[in-house]
Amino acid sequence: MARLPPLAVASGALLLLLFVSVLPCRAAAGGGPSSVVLPVSKDDATQQYVTMFRQRTPQVPVKAVLDLAGTMLWVDCDAGYVSSSYAGVPCGAKSCRLLKNAGCAITCIDAPSAGCLNDTCSEFPKNTATSVSTAGNIITDVLSLPTTFRPAPGPLATVPAFLFTCGHTFLTEGLADGATGMVSLSRARFALPTQLADTFRFSRKFALCLPPASAAGVVVFGDAPYTFQPGVDLSKSLIYTPLLVNPVSTVPYGRKDKTTKYFIGETTIQLKGRVWREKPTDYFIGLTGIKVNGHTVPMNATLLAIDKKGVGGTKLSTVSPYTVLERSIHQAVTDAFAKEMAAIPRAPAVEPFQLCYDGRKVGSTRVGPSVPTIELVLESTAASWVVFGANSMVATKGGALCLGVVDAGTEPQTSVVIGGHMMEDNLLEFDLEASRLGFSSYLPSRQTTCNNFRLG
Ligand SMILES: *[C@@H]1O[C@H](CO)[C@@H](O)[C@H](O)[C@H]1NC(C)=O
Ligand SMILES: *[C@@H]1O[C@H](CO)[C@@H](O)[C@H](O)[C@H]1NC(C)=O
Repeated sequence: MARLPPLAVASGALLLLLFVSVLPCRAAAGGGPSSVVLPVSKDDATQQYVTMFRQRTPQVPVKAVLDLAGTMLWVDCDAGYVSSSYAGVPCGAKSCRLLKNAGCAITCIDAPSAGCLNDTCSEFPKNTATSVSTAGNIITDVLSLPTTFRPAPGPLATVPAFLFTCGHTFLTEGLADGATGMVSLSRARFALPTQLADTFRFSRKFALCLPPASAAGVVVFGDAPYTFQPGVDLSKSLIYTPLLVNPVSTVPYGRKDKTTKYFIGETTIQLKGRVWREKPTDYFIGLTGIKVNGHTVPMNATLLAIDKKGVGGTKLSTVSPYTVLERSIHQAVTDAFAKEMAAIPRAPAVEPFQLCYDGRKVGSTRVGPSVPTIELVLESTAASWVVFGANSMVATKGGALCLGVVDAGTEPQTSVVIGGHMMEDNLLEFDLEASRLGFSSYLPSRQTTCNNFRLG
């Protein structure tokens, strides 16, 4: 499998040129939407968060898994990709040159199709749920997203030439049933937040509201008020912490001054030589400590910082179902939690969790099981991100209630990965212009849920 190389940091002037050429007529006419949305649901079997958008000509619905990481949208172009409007991005195109990690699919010996083109820019789509990646054409096609969420599904906003990568059918293995690709919400140049903002001329930011199973959530791109029923507007009441970029490349890719040719199926891909390193596009935040029931948990602060090699720190991941902690942090948090819960009868551990309780002996509140709060103490914030029982505890099939944190072992790349369960029914605003994360804490503590988001 190919390793995943980096995205280029491009100059503003070039990008402007690029996006003028793909700009839809409606935005040029000044009538573009101020926001677009993606509906979100949770797939029970995989615990992935899935979304749906429309693509191609004639338009068809496409189901894909949401990912806060990744470099751009990828979809399976092998199985059933039928469209009269796709176009390959030539190797010499500006958009291809902006992607330092791109290669050139020089020839494909087969009938032309979206996944088989000559002289086409290619990239390395990755299934971040399984860590499998491959090479695939970079192409453009029509993509449509709704402009409103509720009360009614609104009119669609269309991007005539949305740039994405062609994955192959085997790459969809491990994704939620029916999902044929992944939507990247990362800070990368061609991931959805930046590509949509450039197309529609709205702010480079999005809000993520992940639903628990059987509820509906949303991703809102652009400039929208965060209004929820009944009459709750969270636009002005989020708490902000800086979004951090892990500055260090961790995965070397490619060779200096050497052109590599390799073959995937019928396609010959050529990589022009230079040392590429994956530039992390994930969202990191400055966690400075953890409190349980108000008491500071003792831990090695060095692990909370990103070191010179890019190791350590705290990031958010929608592909990780639960929060994953470096072993000593996991142990310290588990011990502190157990101490506060000493009066509640324990239950045997249930994989992958260590600390479980008899579910019948734990009270229930509006914010979930009645357990100690976990506070994530963050850089430059007046208040912590308070995690209540609904986001910290996981009910198992056998009736146990477990602390939903997983041991990452002793040398994980990232010390703290905040997973999907901990983010559910929290409104999170990723503001890429101000480079900050806004968070609401658990919405039911504010009398609403992601399911009650309204727009339009
Ligand atoms: C690519 O070019 C080769 C050589 O000219 C040709 O045989 C092949 O059919 C072309 N492939 C596509 C997909 O157009
Ligand atoms: C804290 O963590 C760092 C990084 O893993 C390690 O080098 C150091 O020895 C640790 N310090 C203590 C006191 O355990």
